[in-house]
Amino acid sequence: MIAVAIDGPAGAGKSTIARRAALELGFIYVDTGALYRAVGLACIKNGIDPSDAPKVVSILPKTDISIVFFNGEQHVLLNDTDVSDDIRTEKASMTASLVSQIPQVRDFLLDLQRNFSKTENVIMDGRDIGTVVLPNAQVKIFLTASPEVRAKRRVLQLKEKGEYADYDTVLEDIVKRDYNDSHRETAPLKAAENAVVIDTSNLTLDQTAEKIITVIKENIV
Ligand code: DC
Repeated sequence: MIAVAIDGPAGAGKSTIARRAALELGFIYVDTGALYRAVGLACIKNGIDPSDAPKVVSILPKTDISIVFFNGEQHVLLNDTDVSDDIRTEKASMTASLVSQIPQVRDFLLDLQRNFSKTENVIMDGRDIGTVVLPNAQVKIFLTASPEVRAKRRVLQLKEKGEYADYDTVLEDIVKRDYNDSHRETAPLKAAENAVVIDTSNLTLDQTAEKIITVIKENIV
């Protein structure tokens, strides 16, 4: 089985690129951020403060999270309900960032992520895929871009969905989330030692996709 790990901060273009590369290579694409978002959503639904670690840990035994694929697209189930859309709100995103700092939450999601790589050729994106989840991945890529570029992309993305977002607020959220993700004690966001680092600030999506597909092909033959 071949595993490709794509890590990097929010808004670097990971999911779009990973999805495209998976399609081209015939691999499955697993978005692991969705799992942390599902735990965040479970907290919201249970009225639990996501920064209260013991409370969050206490709901894990009754929190069943799984991933299924419909037409090659990943769907996340929380206690058998498809929550793929509900996890995409800004609130779920901030909550996910907080619960992802709890080591027990990370452990809870580890096997679920690893199991995919045992039976499928996989492109997995997240923050700690190359460092913790799949340390033996044949290809490791770290995608990054400046916070300003990522904020601009996010505002545009929301605009396309008909939603207005204030650039300064989005930028502030991105900086806060980067700080949370890279300063947590367990599995912080950082490039694996043998990762290919790609800065997408001055690249279009097409250029980034092309670059990444080339890196993957070079490393799996
Ligand atoms: O990629 P995303 O924005 O959907 O991720 C949501 C949150 O989950 C983000 O704050 C970081 C965290 N996360 C993580 O800690 N480890 C992963 N492998 C994926 C996401």
